[in-house]
Amino acid sequence: MIKTMSEGALMNDKQSGLVTGEFDEGLKEGVYRAIYSRRDIRAQFKNDPIPEEVLSRILHAAHHAPSVGFMQPWNFILVRKEGIREKIHAAFQQANAEAAMMFSGEKREQYKGFKLEGIMESPLNICITRDRERFGPVVIGRTANQIMDLYSCVCAVQNLWLAARAEGMGVGWVSIIHDREIREILHLPSHVAPVAYLCIGYVTHFPERPELEAAGWLPRLPLNELVFCDQWGEECKPSWPELHKEIVKQKDI
Ligand SMILES: Cc1cc2nc3c(=O)[nH]c(=O)nc-3n(C[C@H](O)[C@H](O)[C@H](O)COP(=O)(O)O)c2cc1C
Repeated sequence: MIKTMSEGALMNDKQSGLVTGEFDEGLKEGVYRAIYSRRDIRAQFKNDPIPEEVLSRILHAAHHAPSVGFMQPWNFILVRKEGIREKIHAAFQQANAEAAMMFSGEKREQYKGFKLEGIMESPLNICITRDRERFGPVVIGRTANQIMDLYSCVCAVQNLWLAARAEGMGVGWVSIIHDREIREILHLPSHVAPVAYLCIGYVTHFPERPELEAAGWLPRLPLNELVFCDQWGEECKPSWPELHKEIVKQKDI
C-alpha cells in the first residue's frame, strides 16, 4: 500500500508516462467521482475508528493544497476528547438556536428539523485554522488582498473533503458556531483564526443529492445561468454557443 497519495500518484505517473499529460480514463473517472459523490455528512456517521495511515493520507492531501505565496497558513487540530467536543457541541446548540430565530414561519420550523452537525457521532473532529503571520507580514500574492490566506485554507478543506470521500469517509462542515467560542475552547493564539470545524468518519451511506436540495430548501442552480462571457451579466449563448450547448447538455455528470 502506498505511504501517501502524493508518493503513490508520482509513482503511478512515472509508470504510465503521464508525468505532464492528461490522466487516463480511470484516473479521470476517480477524480470526478470524488467530486460528484462528495456530500456534507451530518447524520450518517458510523463511529468506526479511522486507521492512522488513512488519516495521515487525508491530512497530507490537505497539506498539498495550493496556498498564496506557498504560505501554507493552515494547522489541523485533531479533536478527539469527548469533553472538548461536548463544549463545541454546546456552542453549536447555542448558535443554532440563534440561527433558527433568523428565519420565520414555515422556514423556521423546517430549519429546526435539519440536523446540521455530527460533532459527537463522528469519531473525529478536525479544526482547520489559518495563521495570518506565517512567514511574516509580506507574502507573495497576499499584498493586494490579505484575505488570500483564508482562501488558501479553504482549498485545504476541499482537498481534505475529496480525499476523505475517496477513502470512503464523510466530512461535515459545521459553521454554526461563533469563532470566539472555537478560539476559547481550542486555545487558539490571537494571530490564528478558525476556518473550518469539520466532523469526519466512515458513513452508513452517502446521500445521492445534497440534503438541503432533497428537502426542497434550495435547488441546485443551472450552471449556464452562472457562467458569463467577458463581462458580468453577459450570457455565453450568443458569443460562445457550442460551450453553452455543452453546459446545458451535460447537467450533472
Ligand atoms: C463554508 C461552508 C459551511 C457549511 N456549514 C454547514 C453547517 O454548519 N452545517 C451543515 O449541516 N452543513 C454545512 N455546510 C454544508 C452545506 O450545507 C452543503 O455543502 C450544501 O448543502 C451542499 O451539499 P453537499 O455538500 O452535500 O453537496 C457548509 C458548507 C460550506 C462550504
